Amino acid sequence: MNPILEMAKSRFKAKKVIAVMSAKGGVGKSTIASLIALNLSERQKTALIDLDIYGNSTLKLFGINKLHEVSKEGIEPFLVSNLSIYSIGGLVGDHYVVLPGKDEGNVVESLLGLANVKEDLVVIDTPPGMGEELLTLSRVLDPEIYLVTLPSKLSLKIVKHMLDYLFDLGLKPKMILANMSFLNTTNGRIYPFGELEPVKELGEEFDIRVECLQFDPSIEEFVGRIQDYNGVLKEELARFLICKE
Ligand SMILES: Nc1ncnc2c1ncn2[C@@H]1O[C@H](COP(=O)(O)OP(=O)(O)OP(=O)(O)O)[C@@H](O)[C@H]1O
Ligand SMILES: [Mg+2]
Repeated sequence: MNPILEMAKSRFKAKKVIAVMSAKGGVGKSTIASLIALNLSERQKTALIDLDIYGNSTLKLFGINKLHEVSKEGIEPFLVSNLSIYSIGGLVGDHYVVLPGKDEGNVVESLLGLANVKEDLVVIDTPPGMGEELLTLSRVLDPEIYLVTLPSKLSLKIVKHMLDYLFDLGLKPKMILANMSFLNTTNGRIYPFGELEPVKELGEEFDIRVECLQFDPSIEEFVGRIQDYNGVLKEELARFLICKE
């Protein structure tokens, strides 16, 4: 028996977990996970867990510059209104991390096992790729998966592999989010990563709903205070995902 794994499993037993994933880097996973969590936290207490060992963007997005406190009950969250945030960055500080691949799963397992998560709703930001972290996640939790891609050919190629992989693990994503799909300008709509037909076809092939999110150039201003962002991306996510359920 692995006690940390068992601890993680029992901690998350009765919780609804949403995991934001993509095999492709830089497609907006962390931004989207943060906005989903912020939307949810407007209705009920929510936890956001950043499992990206190397990138851990969440603290940067929220402008948090501290280390987690640890109590008898475990790792205590950073609180932003109704949202509790946990991040590997809150354990190691703003440093680079180097780990042998086999240890990545252990780090993820430890954060899930030791984080003092009390909320019933949990959003997880995952690292890019299809590494140990995802395998560990699927061993510990039974998440509802939102798969993020750009509508670009390169992103779709990699995300298709991820879909094959997830199906092999017995995990069917709830939705494909085609991020940065279009930009509304005074001269009409621009499609920076090409037409949307290929991403819609991918959804049809795997029988998964596809929603297209727009490119919002104002997002960059809110890095460091994403909790103050109430723009179109947050509205779209509220409309497409959460608030209907
Ligand atoms: N809809 C959007 N409109 C405009 N910019 C966006 C949008 N979504 C994300 N971005 C920007 O794209 C960049 C990458 O976003 P983010 O870090 O969330 O991606 P990621 O998939 O988590 O990356 P990584 O794979 O490194 O973890 C950031 O600069 C972010 O501000
Ligand atoms: Mg990220």
